Amino acid sequence: MLGFSQSVVAAATLLLAKSSLAHPTPSRYNGTSQAQAEAQVEYWNGGCTVHPLGGAQDDGPALLIAFEKCRSNSIINLPGPLYTVEKVLNSTLFNTTINLDGIIQYTGENVTLQGDGGIDGSGQVWWNAYATLKTQGGSGVAGGSSRIFARPIPLAVARGKHITVDGISITNSPFWHSIIFESSYVTFKNIYMKSLSSNESAQAANTDGWDTYRSDHIVIRDSVVINGDDCVSFKPNTTFTEVTNMYCDGSHGISVGSLGQYYGVSDIVSDIYIKNITMLNAEHGARIKVFPGHNDTSSVSGGGTGYVRNITWEDFDCENCDKPIFVTGCYNYDSNTQWCQDHPSTLDISDINFINFTGYASGAYKVGNHTVGSIRCSGECEDVTAKNIDLKWGPPGVNQTAGNYICTNVATLDQLDFPCQEVSYSQVDNGGSNLNGGKR
Ligand SMILES: *[C@@H]1O[C@H](CO)[C@@H](O)[C@H](O)[C@H]1NC(C)=O
Ligand SMILES: *[C@@H]1O[C@H](CO)[C@@H](O)[C@H](O)[C@H]1NC(C)=O
Ligand SMILES: *[C@@H]1O[C@H](CO)[C@@H](O)[C@H](O)[C@H]1NC(C)=O
Ligand SMILES: *[C@@H]1O[C@H](CO)[C@@H](O)[C@H](O)[C@H]1NC(C)=O
Ligand SMILES: *[C@@H]1O[C@H](CO)[C@@H](O)[C@H](O)[C@H]1NC(C)=O
Ligand SMILES: *[C@@H]1O[C@H](CO)[C@@H](O)[C@H](O)[C@H]1NC(C)=O
Ligand SMILES: *[C@@H]1O[C@H](CO)[C@@H](O)[C@H](O)[C@H]1NC(C)=O
Ligand SMILES: *[C@@H]1O[C@H](CO)[C@@H](O)[C@H](O)[C@H]1NC(C)=O
Ligand SMILES: *[C@@H]1O[C@H](CO)[C@@H](O)[C@H](O)[C@H]1NC(C)=O
Ligand SMILES: *[C@@H]1O[C@H](CO)[C@@H](O)[C@H](O)[C@H]1NC(C)=O
Ligand SMILES: *[C@@H]1O[C@H](CO)[C@@H](O)[C@H](O)[C@H]1NC(C)=O
Ligand SMILES: *[C@@H]1O[C@H](CO)[C@@H](O)[C@H](O)[C@H]1NC(C)=O
Repeated sequence: MLGFSQSVVAAATLLLAKSSLAHPTPSRYNGTSQAQAEAQVEYWNGGCTVHPLGGAQDDGPALLIAFEKCRSNSIINLPGPLYTVEKVLNSTLFNTTINLDGIIQYTGENVTLQGDGGIDGSGQVWWNAYATLKTQGGSGVAGGSSRIFARPIPLAVARGKHITVDGISITNSPFWHSIIFESSYVTFKNIYMKSLSSNESAQAANTDGWDTYRSDHIVIRDSVVINGDDCVSFKPNTTFTEVTNMYCDGSHGISVGSLGQYYGVSDIVSDIYIKNITMLNAEHGARIKVFPGHNDTSSVSGGGTGYVRNITWEDFDCENCDKPIFVTGCYNYDSNTQWCQDHPSTLDISDINFINFTGYASGAYKVGNHTVGSIRCSGECEDVTAKNIDLKWGPPGVNQTAGNYICTNVATLDQLDFPCQEVSYSQVDNGGSNLNGGKR
């Protein structure tokens, strides 16, 4: 997880076709000339084909020419094998199908990106650099929000409408794999994402699968995400979204938030349906994170308004998850239980549903006793329901036990089909990230 910055700008890294086995190191942009770029683009009746330069030279200018010349009612073929892109691909396309291996950032309407190739983000060089640079104050967030170090997002759908992305892979992502931003009717399906570091002292960081922001009517389905941060994360103003048939390994779960960070700003996440999820080796499973209230009108750590409403996780198999079910209304104040008690969240949480959960907690989460579910609201949470929940604590074997649940300020304990022990903030810490060296 990394906080969302409103100035996120996506940049392109590398675009690979299926036949490429390379895992290249980004070269320096060495100024592909306009003439060179124009020669790469072939025009035919109804479309454009872009031939890569090869030799790690920048194909970005040629792709931009094709996106401009064939920007509407056309087909853009990218036969590969390897496109090297070292600049932001910022294009607006209409009624266009891009065949093969992707575009890094595009906006527009009625665009389909399909194929069986993918984008390789050369993440390792970015993670290595981040491991060093973060100690110098670079948060390494996307685009321009870090002054000294900004990591690209390989594929952004920004201000798009009716966009379909089908069948591609995104691997070795420097930062989030994908963002859907100020867009409507966006479908991602049959996507494969994998970003794991081979350098123990430079873990892959902030490699969320998808983040969604100010967007609605999103479908993410039939996809695999192998990473080390959120599998899918719903950031402010995400509505009418479905995430189904997902296989997530190593992630931080499918998360709402964080929300309510900025005083007086209204954040809304509503009407989200998440179904048929296999969640393996994860930090969280189903998660909501909301900041508490704040008494300072310039606060950037709580005091936001808005709501989280009508969120359902169903058929959720969490195997070896630290915290299978986890709701906090006091995000980021893990060790300040007094603050949580004194500053109830000003963002409403209601109609939250957990249906048909299986699997087990890793045992790494030590708050409470054998806790597999923690629903803790600083303000009151309304209409929380749980049905058919069968979560164990500890890995299968001699010591596995039934899982326990803790609740704070949940109005509808009778709608939970497990006994939820009511605890106040001062009884146990609120469990923001108290992992105490677990087994996962
Ligand atoms: C720069 O471009 C030349 C051809 O113009 C190419 O041979 C060379 O490999 C490129 N160098 C890099 C580092 O991309
Ligand atoms: C993308 O293009 C739009 C419209 O031309 C422009 O407003 C925006 O600043 C561009 N973004 C980037 C990252 O170049
Ligand atoms: C896209 O296609 C629709 C109908 O298929 C048409 O009405 C519309 O004008 C097209 N858009 C552009 C920019 O050509
Ligand atoms: C997108 O497609 C729809 C349905 O065919 C059409 O109504 C709309 O005009 C298209 N949008 C653009 C910008 O071409
Ligand atoms: C691993 O990352 C560290 C920290 O950036 C770096 O110093 C080291 O060179 C990297 N190791 C390899 C094998 O790339
Ligand atoms: C659930 O998702 C998995 C992929 O993770 C898929 O293989 C399976 O068919 C889905 N089940 C249903 C009932 O759709
Ligand atoms: C979310 O939507 C609400 C209602 O339209 C709006 O007031 C608020 O400013 C939006 N928040 C963000 C972060 O865009
Ligand atoms: C809850 O959200 C789901 C998924 O978007 C939607 O289908 C359903 O109509 C919503 N329910 C209500 C009561 O709004
Ligand atoms: C907010 O409350 C804290 C105690 O909870 C207090 O120390 C602080 O001065 C208050 N700040 C303002 C701006 O009122
Ligand atoms: C619960 O999930 C299992 C396995 O995914 C499925 O077979 C079963 O139909 C589900 N039960 C309910 C009540 O949804
Ligand atoms: C913890 O919970 C287990 C059941 O999951 C129970 O057997 C044990 O007695 C509890 N221990 C404490 C200290 O409450
Ligand atoms: C089970 O618990 C006992 C007592 O705490 C411990 O000694 C043993 O190592 C545990 N077994 C496993 C397989 O974790």
